[in-house]
Amino acid sequence: MSTPCRAPTLAVVVPTYNEAENVVVIVERLERVLAGIDWELLFVDDDSPDGTARRVRALARANPRVRVLQRIGRRGLSSACIEGLLATSAPYVAVMDADLQHDEALLPTMLSHLQSEPLDVVIGSRYIAGGGVGDWDAQRASMSRLATRLGQRLIKAELKDPMSGFFMVRAEVLQDCARNLSGVGYKLLLDLFATHPGPLRFRELPYRFRPRQAGESKLDEAVLWEYLLMLIQKWVGPMLPVRFIAFSLIGASGVLVHMLVLWTSFKLADTSFLVAQSLATLVAMTTNFFLNNLFTYRDMRLRGWDLLRGWFSFVLACSVGALANVGVASWLFEAHSFWVLSALAGILVGVVWNYAVTAVYTWKRPQTA
Ligand code: GDD
Ligand code: MN
Repeated sequence: MSTPCRAPTLAVVVPTYNEAENVVVIVERLERVLAGIDWELLFVDDDSPDGTARRVRALARANPRVRVLQRIGRRGLSSACIEGLLATSAPYVAVMDADLQHDEALLPTMLSHLQSEPLDVVIGSRYIAGGGVGDWDAQRASMSRLATRLGQRLIKAELKDPMSGFFMVRAEVLQDCARNLSGVGYKLLLDLFATHPGPLRFRELPYRFRPRQAGESKLDEAVLWEYLLMLIQKWVGPMLPVRFIAFSLIGASGVLVHMLVLWTSFKLADTSFLVAQSLATLVAMTTNFFLNNLFTYRDMRLRGWDLLRGWFSFVLACSVGALANVGVASWLFEAHSFWVLSALAGILVGVVWNYAVTAVYTWKRPQTA
């Protein structure tokens, strides 16, 4: 084993969530392929219940190239990578998955391209000659193709594999736009291309996406939703926070729920309008609360008793929001009598209020003493 005495040239950032079985293998493989390069390996672990961070620390005691950044009460692949990339002084930084699906043997080639050519990013690509996705089922393959096409549209660069999670970048490029990255979801590379002020000079190198070594994939429906949010955000611009967009979309779904309950209760169950309307409001607030907890605040989801407290504060905040909505709308209506505009203004005030208040009181960050 070699001991580093100089600052690293290359930092490999590996995000982990329940990858305890894989971390040992990665270190061994990097030792082999990166011989002759000054490198460091930084695992960014979101407090995996399987003890990945503990395992990495044990490895780090024997190998000073290895480090761990353990984040508590947080989740998210992109944000983990960003924090890792900002935690190193290396001029070249790579992102690679922990499950050995990415081909680490490509790293030295990526580095030499970056060092010898005027390039900002080198990307491991599955969709150019010589690359491949291995044994994906038809559904996963077609989903990946769709997401790829949407992504290509967003960034206006001729990238064959914008969804790649395997790339190396000049650290400065990342530092230049770190503040404006959306940091949501899985697609850091796409985020980087969409955020960087000028076009990025890139090159794609083929590799074959391998089957996962151990453990299981964390890519689920919520990840698709986050991808959609990131696309919307890049499209509307950085002024609107992603969570606000999610909150508003879910709010719109609440209108449907409201109408459905109102109709069922008023028309089918024959209750008074007041009872039906109150019931519909409460049900819509409740479904909104749970959907926001599942998606908008996926990374700081409330559980157990917190869920009850959260629900209560959400209903309380939104009730005040509803009053503000009605107040503003009727005030405008009296002044100008444009009913559609008055209603929209009222809704806007209500949504902004609900979002701002629940962000602070319902999903407040856990107190870490
Ligand atoms: N810190 C942290 N926090 N790491 C995470 C999290 C998280 O919330 N979620 C996933 N990871 C880590 C995993 O431990 C793994 O090392 C890596 O991120 C990729 O996660 P997988 O669950 O294995 O994702 P995948 O194989 O389905 O997706 C990969 O392929 C896609 C291409 O289709 C990723 O490389 C994607 O970035 C890539 O787009
Ligand atoms: Mn994987």
